[in-house]
Amino acid sequence: MAFKELYQPVHLIIGEGCIQEIPRHIEAFGGTKALVVTDPGLMKIGTVKMVTDVLDGVGMPYAIYSDVKPNPTVRIVNEAKAVYDAQGCDFIIGIGGGSPIDVAKGVSILVTNGGTVEDYNGLELSKKKGQPLIAVNTTAGTGSEATRAFVITDQVRRSKMLCVDSNSVAYLAINDPTMMVHMPPSLTAATGMDALTHAIEAYVAKSRCPFTDGIALEAIRLIGQYLARAVADGSDMEARTQMCWAQYMGGLAFSNAGLGMVHAIAHQLGGFYDTPHGVANAIMLPYVMRFNMTSCAERYADVAQAFGFNTGNLTVEQAALAAILYIEELEKIIKIPGLADTDFNPDDAVAIAENAMTDTGMPENPRQPSIQEVVEVMLTAYYDKK
Ligand SMILES: [Fe+2]
Repeated sequence: MAFKELYQPVHLIIGEGCIQEIPRHIEAFGGTKALVVTDPGLMKIGTVKMVTDVLDGVGMPYAIYSDVKPNPTVRIVNEAKAVYDAQGCDFIIGIGGGSPIDVAKGVSILVTNGGTVEDYNGLELSKKKGQPLIAVNTTAGTGSEATRAFVITDQVRRSKMLCVDSNSVAYLAINDPTMMVHMPPSLTAATGMDALTHAIEAYVAKSRCPFTDGIALEAIRLIGQYLARAVADGSDMEARTQMCWAQYMGGLAFSNAGLGMVHAIAHQLGGFYDTPHGVANAIMLPYVMRFNMTSCAERYADVAQAFGFNTGNLTVEQAALAAILYIEELEKIIKIPGLADTDFNPDDAVAIAENAMTDTGMPENPRQPSIQEVVEVMLTAYYDKK
């Protein structure tokens, strides 16, 4: 391909208190009633109210769909779309981590394109720009507010559908660290590792370009510097703000470069066992990096440099290994569990690997595995930590 097309939200705001800017943007695109898509936990702890208070302040009507679950299913998207229709909404505000924003993207696409979510499982399958979407991020990891991807679980096949669609990109992305201070350490850790996986997979993905390389490396540097701090002290606003930048850049990087084998496996672990997405990525990342070493050691050496290693006296392979060991050490510090600590069953490994081979992320992986090699990587992770 002789050209590269890039995708990003029309507007992005990052910083403390930036949710106050939402009404100005609603006015700009002429929205008259919002569907707020979120989850019960964010309703309960008052995070959603922070946004609806802003809407109430300017008299902007809204309806709320708050039943989004982790690893959201086709049924949840359909329910949210039904509320949108019944309430006469004309734009969508997704508030949450990846799950509510992914559901909001699904609704946005269905409103303008019709059909069902399954119709958009794959690459660029919609025809029309989605209904305007404001994506308010409450975690520092998934990057969903930045990307053209949304992941919906097909509950019948127990598989995750990766819909990659530039028509689903948010009109406005909001990263306000004051929305994130209530995230518990385990969620901060898991979503932060999701962000790191986005950046590293984008940096070695086949469709990478100079733009994605630059933002991926800076995201890696910031995560190396600030993730453990954000986990240790959730009220550390400098760490939270820098993680906002890191996760946005990681999201933008993978949205434009692609993912890889870590996500291809993690999507299936989520579909099979509801394993939290960030945890699944964090578990698989070092093992997939070891598998990929023969194809992209020089790139992993750059990752080591971004983590702050002086690689001048190391071979490329030693530097790449330093990056992997650094990640494993970070995962110990922030208490990421092992695969054996999850519901993973080795008897499912072949079925999971077969699904992973069809994942939209897999073709971007720098080294194409066989089904057996995917199985071996998973079983190595499983028995290594057991
Ligand atoms: Fe991810």
